Amino acid sequence: MAATTAVRLVGVDELGDSQVTVVDTDHGKLAVGLSDGTPFAVSNRCRHLLASLGEGKVTEEGCLECPWHAARYDVRTGRMVRGPQGAFKPLAGVIKGTLGAKALKTYPVELRDGAVWLVG
Ligand code: FES
Repeated sequence: MAATTAVRLVGVDELGDSQVTVVDTDHGKLAVGLSDGTPFAVSNRCRHLLASLGEGKVTEEGCLECPWHAARYDVRTGRMVRGPQGAFKPLAGVIKGTLGAKALKTYPVELRDGAVWLVG
């Protein structure tokens, strides 16, 4: 049986008020953070216009919000749960149903010793 390795991604105290950041990994750049105290790691590029999601924020509801047009993602599934806002708001449902239909990739993480670790 192959040994599994864990990789430390970021310390919880390094996350700041946004509760998310960008981390370079062997899987490319990931958006890594905490949602309601639960760690998550998802692919970093917004499904709308490829903004860096790790530069967004985690909302009070625990969603990852894009820094450009405020689309929101469920970090457990990677699915877009709200389409882009602002100038894109009239098209939010269409964008959610097309570009947003492909979920962000999710990665297995754990909270250990005050840090988020990529596991498995
Ligand atoms: S780039 Fe993310 S909502 Fe537009």
